[in-house]
Order: sequence, then C-alpha cells, then structure tokens
Amino acid sequence: MNPRLARLQPYPFEKLRALLAGVTPHAALHPINLSIGEPKHPTPNFVKAALAGSLEGLAAYPATAGTPALREAIAAWLSRRYGIPAPDPVTQVLPVNGSREALFAFAQTVIDPAGGAARVVCPNPFYQIYEGAALLAGAQPTYLNDGMRFDDLDWTGVQLAYVCSPGNPTGRVLSLDDWQRLFELSDRHGFVIASDECYSELYYDELRPPLGALQAAWRFGRRDFARVVAFSSLSKRSNVPGMRSGFVAGDAAILQRFLLYRTYHGSAMSLPVQHASIAAWRDEEHVRANRQLYADKYRAVLPMIAAPLSAGMPEGGFYLWVRTPADDATFARELHRQYNVLVLPGSFLARDAHGANPGRQHVRIALVAPLSECVEAVQRINQYVAGL
Ligand SMILES: Cc1ncc(COP(=O)(O)O)c(C=O)c1O
Repeated sequence: MNPRLARLQPYPFEKLRALLAGVTPHAALHPINLSIGEPKHPTPNFVKAALAGSLEGLAAYPATAGTPALREAIAAWLSRRYGIPAPDPVTQVLPVNGSREALFAFAQTVIDPAGGAARVVCPNPFYQIYEGAALLAGAQPTYLNDGMRFDDLDWTGVQLAYVCSPGNPTGRVLSLDDWQRLFELSDRHGFVIASDECYSELYYDELRPPLGALQAAWRFGRRDFARVVAFSSLSKRSNVPGMRSGFVAGDAAILQRFLLYRTYHGSAMSLPVQHASIAAWRDEEHVRANRQLYADKYRAVLPMIAAPLSAGMPEGGFYLWVRTPADDATFARELHRQYNVLVLPGSFLARDAHGANPGRQHVRIALVAPLSECVEAVQRINQYVAGL
C-alpha cells in the first residue's frame, strides 16, 4: 500500500463522530445540524430542467477539456464577475467535477517530490483537502495560522500555496495588498498559487464582491496569470453540490499540464452536467436570491451572539466562526447532549502550528438550515452558555 496514506488525518466529520460516540442527545428537542457546510437552499428549477433536457448526452464519452460552449460560458462569467477581459477559453479555463477533486488533483500535478524537500502552504484553520493533497503528493504541509502575515513564514522550498478567499471557516477575504505580497513571494520562490474561491459568490455587500485571484493578477499587470490558478464552483453559488461542477482558470502552461494529468486520471464532466452548468453560469438572478437568504440569516442570528461568545460578520461564505468560552470539543459535545444542536469544533479544522492551534476555542456554525432553525439553534446555544 502507498505509505503516504498513513499520514492522512481523519476527516473533521469523522473526528466529530468519534467525539459524539455514546452521547445521547436531548430527546425532547428536534435535532439541528449546523456542522456540515452543505448548501441546503433549493436547486434552481432552470438548472434541473437544463440537466433533464440534455440526458441524450449520457450516450457519449465527454472530453476532459469540456465543451467549447462551457469553457466560453465560464470565461464570459469570469469577465463579467471580475471586470477583466475574458480569459482564453481554450487555454486558460478547464471544467472540473467540483473544486474538491481539482484542489486535490492539482497538487499531484504541481509537486515535484524529488529530494523530499517540497513544501505546500495551507491556511490554518482550513479545508482539509489541501493537507491531504500535499501529503499524497509527497510534500510537507506548512501552516499559515489565521492572523499571521505571509512574511511570517519561511517560503524556502515551497512549491504550492493554497489560499482560500473567502475563507472556510473564517470568512476572511484576501485584500489587494495581500495579493501583491503573495505575487512577490511567488516570483521570488517560484511557487504556484492555488486560490480556492468556492465561496466567492456568497458575500453580503452587493457593492463589494470579494476580489478574485485573476482580478488581482490583472490589476498588477500579470496578464498571463503567471503561476496563479483560481478554483471555483457552482456548489454553493447555485445550490448544486450534487452536480459536481466547477472550473479552474489561470496560467495556461500550468493548465496544459493539469489537463494532461486529468486525462489520465479520468475526470471528465458528463455532458448533461456541462449543459446545466452553462445555464447556471449564465444566470445571476438566482445567485442574488441565494445571497439574500444567507444575508437574512446573518441579520437574524448575529445580534443574538453575545458575550461570552463572540463572532463577527464574515466577508463571505455561510459560516459563523464563533469564539467559545470553553474548550471547543467539550462545547460541541455538551451542546449536542443537552440541546441537540450540532456544530463543528474549530480545533478539528486546524493544526497545532507555530505554538498554537488557531481553531481552538472556536466552533464553526454553518448557516445552512432554514432561518427559523438557525435562530432556534442560536437560542439553544445561548441557553447552553448561560448554564456553563
Ligand atoms: C473551502 C472549500 N473548498 C472547496 C470545497 C469543495 O466544494 P465543491 O467540491 O463542491 O466545489 C468546499 C466544500 O465544502 C470548501 O469548503
């Protein structure tokens, strides 16, 4: 067996299952699960219709590069969304089966494990796929703790840097200054930047959508997107996590190698899914309505969070990143036992690094349930905290 598999950590939800083993939740209260970041708003009917209307596409093997129509729809979306000229749909855009598989496969394409010195920078706390991708590619993960600056890290030997903006779980967005520094470091050390933007369309100031990697590159005149690849997804934007549809866009030379890898890996997107994806990328009305649903939830629950808990309005995403007065794992377990509300302990999403675990004394609350359930969950959390 591949010995690198032994280095993978259990996934956060496995750790949660182990934490809750043998715990019987309060039976009189109906369960509210806000632990998983799975969008629950309804899939738009026009996306379902586009999928159902193109089922004859199941009769053909799809090409790994995707159809020209999908790549053009994505390039046009990038241009509209980020106010940049459309990337070349032939060389600078590739469809992927959700951003998760692409974030993973990308490290296998980019990393040269020879000599055992390759390093991959991951945010901390983070989406655990980055770490697993690094380990299985033969690289060593290096963690950039929340609150650290890029200059606080030693970038020697770094071949790949994952960034996540808006971040899961913190909701933080990289600024233009952050990007400038990251580009400078990439120029100096030669690493590739993988920008995970799967929450890019969940923001709550319609006048200030989060900056994207390609947009930032363009602002600095980096028109070939040198060493930058953005990862985007329809899962959260269009409430189609089961469709498995996203894209990567950026540096043409890197995408050409990525396409080669993907051809062997066998990760082509089925034609009906491509068809439905074109429909989704062309429409913004449903995306605005989706944002509104989350905005309503934040407006309802954020004022309810009071000391000793604390949480701020995120710049993007659908999480509340809440500071807890007690150990986060104990907090989550007892909240489940006493109030039948499930949240994710922050330390399950983070690693001990630089003398701290930046997830400790935090829980992640995914505002994916209906508004009334989110409100009830926070009411129960407040009752729980009052009894601590
Ligand atoms: C930060 C982050 N990146 C990527 C993904 C993967 O999303 P998908 O594969 O549905 O595009 C998720 C899913 O929860 C996520 O939280």
